[in-house]
Amino acid sequence: MDYPEYLRSVPKVELHCHFEGTVRAATFADLARKHDVALPTDEVERLYDYDTIYEFLKIFGMVSSTLIDREDFARCAYESLDDGVRLGSLRYREMFFNPTLHTRRGVPMATVIGGLVDGIRAAETDFGVRCRLIADVYRQDPPEVARQMVEEVLANRVDELIGLGMDGAEAPDPPEKFAEAYRAAKAGGLRLTSHASEDAPPVNITTCLDVLGCERIDHGYHIMSDDAVVRRCRDEGIHFTCCPTSTAVVYGWPDLTAHPIRDMVAAGLNVMLNSDDPTMFHTDLGSEYIELCTALGYGPETVRTLVLNGVDATWLDDSDKTAMR
Ligand code: HPA
Ligand code: ZN
Repeated sequence: MDYPEYLRSVPKVELHCHFEGTVRAATFADLARKHDVALPTDEVERLYDYDTIYEFLKIFGMVSSTLIDREDFARCAYESLDDGVRLGSLRYREMFFNPTLHTRRGVPMATVIGGLVDGIRAAETDFGVRCRLIADVYRQDPPEVARQMVEEVLANRVDELIGLGMDGAEAPDPPEKFAEAYRAAKAGGLRLTSHASEDAPPVNITTCLDVLGCERIDHGYHIMSDDAVVRRCRDEGIHFTCCPTSTAVVYGWPDLTAHPIRDMVAAGLNVMLNSDDPTMFHTDLGSEYIELCTALGYGPETVRTLVLNGVDATWLDDSDKTAMR
C-alpha cells in the first residue's frame, strides 16, 4: 500500500463537516429538477465554482433551497455518509446543519431533523458509520432568529442531536451577537462549538471560549497572530477542527506548505483534520489527509496524533472514546 492509500484507509472521525456542503453536485441538480429550482448553469461539473466565501455561501443557500421533503434530507445525509466511508474511512462524524436556511423557507424543523436522522440511521445500518448532529447558528441571522432556532431545535430534539455551532461569514458578524442563543443551548443540555478566527482576529476565539462557553473551536487559523491566545489554548487543551482545502480556496492559503495549520501543529495545539464542505470544494476526507500530510511531510506518527486528537475532541463518552482508540 502506498502512503496516499494508507492515509485514505486510516479510520477517522470528522467534527467539521456541513451537511449542506456534502450534497453531491448530481444530487443537487436532481433535486433542483424535482422542485423546479433554477440553477446558474446546466453543467453539473461547474455548479460548485467560486473564489470567495460570499460566492460560496450563495451556492450553499441554493443547495439548501432544493432540500424540501423529508426524503431529500434523508437521501443527502445517507449519500454524505456513504462518501465519507468510501473516500475517507469515516467511522464517526459530528455533522453541522443550518436549520434556519430550511425553516425560513417554510420547511418544518421536524422535517429537517427527521429526514437527517432517517439518513443517518440507514447509513449506520448499511455502512457501520455513526453520526451525530450539531445545529449551526447562521451568523447573518438576527440574534432573535438564532435564539428561536435553538428553542425549536430543543423542542424537536432526538438522541442524535447533541450540539450547537455557528457558521456563515465571520468578518461582519462577531460571536458575541449570539450570546443568548448559546446560553439557551447550554441550558438545554447541548454541547457548544463555533467557527472562529477563520476570517477575523483571535479575539473571536477568546469570545467564543469565555462568552459563549465553546468547548472547541472550528478553524481558528488567525490564532497564530497572538502568542497569548496560543499559550492559553495549548495550556487548556482546546481542540481545533481544521480544514485544509476549503480555506485554501476561499481564504487565500493556496499553498498548503504555508497554511497556518502547519504552525498550529508546530505550536503544540490540538489540531484534527476535516473536509468542511467536501463536495462543494471538490474534496473528501481522505484527500484532506493526503494533500496536507504529503505537503507538510507528516509521517505516520503525526498522522496518528491528528487522528487521535479527533477522537479526544469528540463529544462521545469516555468509554466510547477508549473503544475508538
Ligand atoms: N465557514 C463559514 N461558513 C460556512 C463554512 C465555513 O467553513 N462551511 C459552511 N458554511
Ligand atoms: Zn465550516
